[in-house]
Amino acid sequence: MGFEREHWNSNVGFILASVGSAVGIGNVWRFPYLVGTNGGGAFLFPYVVILTTFGLALMVLELAVGRYYQTSIIGCLTRIKKRFKWAGVFTVIVTFVVTSYYLVILGWILSYVFIMIFEPTLGFDSFSISFYPVAAFFAVVGINYLIIRKGISGGIEKINKVGVILLVCILVPLTVYAVFLPGSETGIMFYLWPDFEKIFEPPIWAAAFGQAFFSLSIGFGTLVAYGSYLRSKGSLVRASSAIVAFDTIIAFIAGLMIFSFLFSFGMEPDQGASLVFKVMPSIFSQIEFGAVIAVLFFALLFIAGITSSVSLFQVPISAMEDNVGMRRGRAVLVVTGLVTLIGIFSALSYSPIKLAVGGMPVFDFMDTMFGTYGITISAIIFVTIVSWFMDKRSLLEHIQQGSRIKIPYMLIYFARFVLPTAIAVTIILSIIKL
Ligand code: PFF
Repeated sequence: MGFEREHWNSNVGFILASVGSAVGIGNVWRFPYLVGTNGGGAFLFPYVVILTTFGLALMVLELAVGRYYQTSIIGCLTRIKKRFKWAGVFTVIVTFVVTSYYLVILGWILSYVFIMIFEPTLGFDSFSISFYPVAAFFAVVGINYLIIRKGISGGIEKINKVGVILLVCILVPLTVYAVFLPGSETGIMFYLWPDFEKIFEPPIWAAAFGQAFFSLSIGFGTLVAYGSYLRSKGSLVRASSAIVAFDTIIAFIAGLMIFSFLFSFGMEPDQGASLVFKVMPSIFSQIEFGAVIAVLFFALLFIAGITSSVSLFQVPISAMEDNVGMRRGRAVLVVTGLVTLIGIFSALSYSPIKLAVGGMPVFDFMDTMFGTYGITISAIIFVTIVSWFMDKRSLLEHIQQGSRIKIPYMLIYFARFVLPTAIAVTIILSIIKL
């Protein structure tokens, strides 16, 4: 609205930023805990199937729509038809809430970097009834603010260039170390060998859908925003394949690391969300140089998380800029302020105040309602609107740009019928079974 739109400096910068967005706490925290609670190897099969079919297709669509309209998700859907504005607003709200609790976990992680140095014996239970989580939440909000206020190429692109490389440099040696620990083979078997009876259970597929979208940052409008900062006409199919491949490989390696550690220390894999915060520190405390490894581990998580959180912020910020006409500086300030206000509820649920909804900590409630259900609904709505109401030919031509692979016309029908139905059915089945 009147201001010159920001753009990525280079295509590599764009791909790294999207990789940075995709590779996050989801890969190192959420993925292993879901594998652990969903029967180990049984989760991997649906997960990889979804990533490489639904995930890839949706990623291409989101990036293409953003690049085509050069505006935020609200702007894009409004341009398709005015009456779809609400759908864009819905996605922005869901993403906004996810951002607020994502920062809470990021705060826990930042705290743990220091706890592992100064107070390694402090367990998660003692930590979560202190006010550390709340203080750390504020610190993380501040760090994000400092990055995003520098803009797309000056802030987000730069932090990702460093972050992604650093992440690989920490993850790979840690994994090699873990895999060579005695007893790690049982963990690797649990992780890789599917329990065939469980493979077709709907809750596992629903969890895999949720995780695939969460991990690839799909359904949040983030990729629409990142696509809208693209000037180049490079191949989106190639870029998306690279991002999906990278994200899958990192999650896979992180799983190898976590399950090797867990099993070689005789720990149970199905401990849910607290896996990384309760179990890992107790393992590190038993290892030689455990303190160093622990700090590296939580630093790894923190770097992965910060490159993702800056992308989440971009959704409400770009909506404020493009749809409300705010300047970036003001939009950044307003969004950061609002995210803090909402996030504080999740932060307080793991503090002496123990804020809860129907007995469930607010944080867990938000992750289920928004992180799993909200986001899948938002993805269904997005894909339905784009595939039914956007001009098919221009959409396909746009996706085709710069790509040597011929995009099959089928993609549109896949997006119209298969994508939304499959997502809806698995979600409904899993709710019924709950
Ligand atoms: N993909 C991130 C992760 O795996 O941790 C989470 C995420 C980041 C989701 C950004 C959505 C998003 F827009």
